[in-house]
Amino acid sequence: MRVLGLETSCDETAAAVVEVDGEVDGPLAPARAATAPPAARRGRALSDVVHTQADVHARFGGVVPELASRDHLQRILPVVDEALERAGCRLADIDGLSVTSGPGLVGALLVGVQVARALALGARKPVVGVNHIEGHLLAVLLAQPPDEVPSPPWLGLVVSGGHTSLYAVRALGDYRALGHTLDDAAGEAFDKVARLLGLPYPGGAHIDRLAGGGDPAAIAFPRGLSKRRRDQFDFSFSGLKTAVLQHLRERGLPKGQALADLCASFQEAVCDALTLRAVRAARAGGLTQLVLCGGVAANSSLRERVLDVCIQDGLQAFIPNRAMCTDNAAMIGATAWYRLRTDGPTPLDIGACPNLRLPLV
Ligand code: KG4
Ligand code: ZN
Repeated sequence: MRVLGLETSCDETAAAVVEVDGEVDGPLAPARAATAPPAARRGRALSDVVHTQADVHARFGGVVPELASRDHLQRILPVVDEALERAGCRLADIDGLSVTSGPGLVGALLVGVQVARALALGARKPVVGVNHIEGHLLAVLLAQPPDEVPSPPWLGLVVSGGHTSLYAVRALGDYRALGHTLDDAAGEAFDKVARLLGLPYPGGAHIDRLAGGGDPAAIAFPRGLSKRRRDQFDFSFSGLKTAVLQHLRERGLPKGQALADLCASFQEAVCDALTLRAVRAARAGGLTQLVLCGGVAANSSLRERVLDVCIQDGLQAFIPNRAMCTDNAAMIGATAWYRLRTDGPTPLDIGACPNLRLPLV
């Protein structure tokens, strides 16, 4: 089955053609909830086009919603054309469309949703609205051999610009929330600290690069909620951000080695907080597979750390390649296969839901 996925929830305009082996059984009809959830299947991105708006928003130090919507409008059709062309297919060759319907910026989401509706209507194809967080959670199904894909149950650690959460993925579509950030998301903390340091937006990748030459033990930043009970898996990053601000007030803006040390120490505190909770949650839930996903999962130190703690704790780590961690449409296409199979197509009046929640069981 081939799906054209679209993603415009924030500041990336993306389209991808994804192929999943096997057909959707029977007609694409709803009301299949009573049947067992489908097994996880490996998907393959035939194309994956991402246009980033980083340049549009850079001088404002963050995403400007109105500018994001306008840029999506200008880019979306060329991006879709390119995705189809790179996959070597036409709209007529695909079996269905999928689009991020939330959460995200409402004006940005609407661009993708309206384009998906129009294409579906014109080409007489089914379309399904996909939750962006579910897309991040299932991006790991696009791993290519020799990398393995996990089979549920697994623990998903979603670390993005807007979300930081731990989910038990008991089956595709069967998610249980184990912990969330109580304030800033991890990516938000990276971006805010980068801004304090005068680095361009989005700052996560800049901190990552600078941290490579720094000493992670140089500054002892707080780990957030470290005194919480061992069976609580929430996160907090606002105290860490304040500690960095305090450090800068006392010492001034660092340069050279001092800047690298600060970045490495901040990054270390984030990695500690994330991996500590993840390992505890996995143990508590008897889960043996840990999947890291979301934009911050592109961070070099976090990737290494997750691999290390998993080896130490006897867990199996699954980390999608960097392009599948940051926002992309392939993950939205991969999620569509099973959503079409279990729920059937979304009615054509599909809307944009800025606060869409992951369906939790
Ligand atoms: O998942 P994503 O692309 O978009 C959202 O759904 O939010 O995540 C974007 C976030 C941004 O905060 C960005 O700074 C962060 O991911 N990020 C990184 C790295 N690459 C992207 N953070 C740390 N290290 C990186 N290498
Ligand atoms: Zn995202």
